[in-house]
Amino acid sequence: MTLTAVRPETLQRTPTSRRYLVCPPRYFAVQYTINPWMHPEVPTDTDRACRQWQVLVATYRRLGHQVDVIEPLPDLPDMVFAANAAVTVAGRAYGAKFRFPQRAAEAPAYQARLTELGFTVIPPTYVNEGEGDFLVVGRRFILAGHGFRTDHRAHREAENVLGLPVISLELVDPRYYHLDTAIAVLDETTIAYYPPALSRPSRAILAELFPDAIVADDADAEVFGLNAVSDGYHVVLPVQAHRLARQLAARGFQPVSVDVSEFRKAGGGPKCCTLELRA
Ligand code: ARG
Repeated sequence: MTLTAVRPETLQRTPTSRRYLVCPPRYFAVQYTINPWMHPEVPTDTDRACRQWQVLVATYRRLGHQVDVIEPLPDLPDMVFAANAAVTVAGRAYGAKFRFPQRAAEAPAYQARLTELGFTVIPPTYVNEGEGDFLVVGRRFILAGHGFRTDHRAHREAENVLGLPVISLELVDPRYYHLDTAIAVLDETTIAYYPPALSRPSRAILAELFPDAIVADDADAEVFGLNAVSDGYHVVLPVQAHRLARQLAARGFQPVSVDVSEFRKAGGGPKCCTLELRA
């Protein structure tokens, strides 16, 4: 029997239309330090953050995606990072429980909004930061991070609640404290990732699951290049991630660059600002 190898670069990639929940950064600021990127003494520019965010949202709409909004609350400067608020699969939302008290009040606000949007919200027992640490790979499985934010026990809970197998991965570099800063899910079979952010056994798991993975370099990881949002063809990523954009293009994806550099001061990128709503 002969197996015909599919050369990835000849694949015709097809986008699928998505639905996202986002939160305007009206009260965005860096007022405390809960990750190594946050320096309250470095000024933030909320107007600039709002303009960058508007472009991100306009980009999603231009690509044909549906965007829902949650109203921001004062005193929750990190609420713009919608990805951390839940993970959704097939109309169910496994809610977040934040590691740090500074963000705790975001969880009920997002859960209420998700209920309004028609999701069955399941509040969690264990600490977990939603899609920051849970990356849904199509209808196949969920890659789940632990080590800094999400409690390992939440992985099993998410598996039960969402009905997809959960594959646990250990994060080891505090700069990449959420899995979505180290891995970008591009489609059902392709990821891009930054191996040094993960433990050796976790890297071995990824090498086995994704033999064709795109490997990002230090420079692209440091500008949150992996904090990208893919619809299976278009990949919205930080404009500063030059080499990664070329790697994506070489593999048949369409890189769509955005400048969300203001959010880097809080340790976030485009994906952090985006919670995917899966009906
Ligand atoms: N300042 C926020 C925090 O440390 C940033 C969250 C980034 N979100 C993400 N999905 N990686 O919690």
